[in-house]
Amino acid sequence: MTTPPPPTIAPANGRLGVLTVGLGAVASTLIAGVELVKRGQGKPIGSLSQMATIRLGKRTDHRSPLIRDFVPLATLDDIVWGAWDVFPDDAYVAASRAGVLEAGKHIEAVSDALREIRPMPAAFERKYARNLDGEHIMEGSGKRGMLNRIREDINRFREDKQVDRVVMIWCASTEIFIEPGPAHMSIEALEAAIDANDETVSPAMLYAYAALLEGVPFANGAPNLAVDAPALRQYATDHGVAISGKDFKTGQTLMKTVLAPMLKARQLGLRGWYSTNILGNRDGEVLDAPENFKTKEESKLGVLEDILEPAKNPDLYGDVFHKVTINYYPPRGDNKEGWDNIDIFGWLNYPMQIKVDFLCRDSILAAPLALDLVLFMDLAQRAGLGGIQEWLSYYYKSPQTAPGLYPEHDLFIQLTKLKNTLRWMMGEEVITHLGREYYTEI
Ligand SMILES: NC(=O)c1ccc[n+]([C@@H]2O[C@H](COP(=O)([O-])OP(=O)(O)OC[C@H]3O[C@@H](n4cnc5c(N)ncnc54)[C@H](O)[C@@H]3O)[C@@H](O)[C@H]2O)c1
Repeated sequence: MTTPPPPTIAPANGRLGVLTVGLGAVASTLIAGVELVKRGQGKPIGSLSQMATIRLGKRTDHRSPLIRDFVPLATLDDIVWGAWDVFPDDAYVAASRAGVLEAGKHIEAVSDALREIRPMPAAFERKYARNLDGEHIMEGSGKRGMLNRIREDINRFREDKQVDRVVMIWCASTEIFIEPGPAHMSIEALEAAIDANDETVSPAMLYAYAALLEGVPFANGAPNLAVDAPALRQYATDHGVAISGKDFKTGQTLMKTVLAPMLKARQLGLRGWYSTNILGNRDGEVLDAPENFKTKEESKLGVLEDILEPAKNPDLYGDVFHKVTINYYPPRGDNKEGWDNIDIFGWLNYPMQIKVDFLCRDSILAAPLALDLVLFMDLAQRAGLGGIQEWLSYYYKSPQTAPGLYPEHDLFIQLTKLKNTLRWMMGEEVITHLGREYYTEI
């Protein structure tokens, strides 16, 4: 297969509006972090777009610029924030409530910027997140009213803030589990379902559809179907709007997508993988409802099967017991603890165990992913790459792929794909790691 010619990338002129759906722990940590970095009061640790280098050409060429110097990304100074939330708290209050960042050290230092970000009333219905009872909600007539209102909000934001481009990112609570059904199969069916206030059209789908109708790229940080509904995927492709999802890959799944490929690379067998978490933030509270956890569970469970491919390797992976639970435990707040007990076997079937105890900070891990996603989604849009951005799988637990294509979960394959996409976009050679040239030229 020949590599297609690189795209033409429009320059990142002007301001980039970033609309977050949800102004909770992740969004407020993202916003406060970027504002601190802009003022030289923090480093964007965990952000590939800001911290990583990319090798270009041969290893002997010694060309490894920072990614942000290599590709024409919007700068942090170009970003202008906007948000919707079910609660009226501004970003200062949201960050203080979330309890992720230290008030004295990190919230007060950017309080002026945070105070300015007041969320717009949310498109929300309680039945999609029962454990949430905010009242900062759009007035309007049903789903059609919400869709129109979101579109108006986007356009008002554009005008008020004088932004040149907009990206939307879902950082709101995980909705209840909705399987793709008749309402999601075509735009005509979706339009009719919106008018009929069909239950299978959730607020996340309305935000996603509104974004696409306004030509705004949409990234989905939660496992909700949202822009992964077939009708929206098709619309995004047909209209050249970038989309990506689902569910930020942080914490336990990040570990899983590093450890499982290692087992497979060494052809070690797996009998069982028991994962459990305690988490005490609002996300944990919403996920305490079984219908909402089901959405998350689907997203977390698929990973092992896709990596280990049991059908190809039944001796090693044909009978794996995989269990994932999340327990709401308020004392921990955002500082999630994730335990994994992994039962493996080696040479002649001898059993072994791996135990992981990851004392992580959920939003500290998620914020840099959200930053990279908005910058790369904006880049994709300027490069004319509409539809699913599979090269951004690196950021997601359930990467969106073309229908019929299994997702690539291995973190390092995802990283290679991401970097090769950037090389291709900029007209550099993609790196295959074959490396024969170092030996044939001697
Ligand atoms: N932090 C992580 O490591 C991580 C990883 C993967 C996925 N996620 C997902 O990211 C999302 C955000 O996580 P968080 O920790 O910030 O949660 P959070 O509960 O602190 O914030 C979510 C916010 O979304 C708001 N909201 C809910 N429904 C809304 C709607 N329809 N419109 C507008 N606002 C709405 C809520 O009021 C809340 O303030 C969750 O879905 C979570 O599952 C987080």
